[in-house]
Amino acid sequence: MMINKMTFKEIVEARRSIRKFDTEHAFKHETVEKALRLALLSPNSSNLQTWEFYRVKSADKLKLLSEACLNQGAARTASEMVVFVSRQDLWKQRANWNAQQIKNKIGERTELTKREKRGIHYYESMMKLFYDNSLWPLNSIIRQLVLAWRVVNGKPMMRFTRRNDSKVVSNKSLAIAAQTFMLAMKDQDYDTCPMEGFDSVWVRKILNLPKSADVSIIVVCGKGLPEGVTNERLRLSYDEVVFDV
Ligand SMILES: Cc1cc2nc3c(=O)[nH]c(=O)nc-3n(C[C@H](O)[C@H](O)[C@H](O)COP(=O)(O)O)c2cc1C
Repeated sequence: MMINKMTFKEIVEARRSIRKFDTEHAFKHETVEKALRLALLSPNSSNLQTWEFYRVKSADKLKLLSEACLNQGAARTASEMVVFVSRQDLWKQRANWNAQQIKNKIGERTELTKREKRGIHYYESMMKLFYDNSLWPLNSIIRQLVLAWRVVNGKPMMRFTRRNDSKVVSNKSLAIAAQTFMLAMKDQDYDTCPMEGFDSVWVRKILNLPKSADVSIIVVCGKGLPEGVTNERLRLSYDEVVFDV
């Protein structure tokens, strides 16, 4: 049994985007499940978990998907690919799920705590203001009016009026989950490459996803070859991008 002695710092430092994997390696697919289980613990917006993860393992699907990934070397040699999909369209279902978790805790009790009342109100009513697009463009107009009212009264408010704003929210959570996943793979001595270089319409078709699903990022996985590291790790200096205010 391999005992991994890497510290968190070492894992972060060792992770690189790998462009060529060992196609002869007997990849342990169970490591992907372990890493995804950790990715599910990632922080996510309002705990809505508007995400889905599609594991692609079969040779024929991997070939199709690597074509959709513009035949990039990392995709062509990957042992497994995980497609991180944003399902912002499922916001209502997931909001109801969260409200239900609070109600399950309450059970038969008739006296609700302030926190419980606030939680149920948030998931059952407040969410609609931000995510409900069923009466578009009326939803946007309502949001703009609420925003204008807050601004006139000198109050802050999330500038959240367009349909694309909720798309961004969901994709942020997926990006965080992808990072948890990649570090968890590295912790198990495997390598990854995150990809946005793909044709999303092709990917949706290959995975049979509805139009409302948004392919966020594809993480290709495998045993990295030394030549899979194609460039030096260059970063702007700390002082150029970090500001004490
Ligand atoms: C959102 C995102 C999309 C990326 N898309 C691709 C891609 O399509 N193909 C690729 O080879 N690398 C892709 N990368 C990897 C970056 O090029 C890489 O992270 C960057 O050059 C830094 O290198 P490092 O990951 O080895 O530290 C992507 C990274 C991110 C975060």
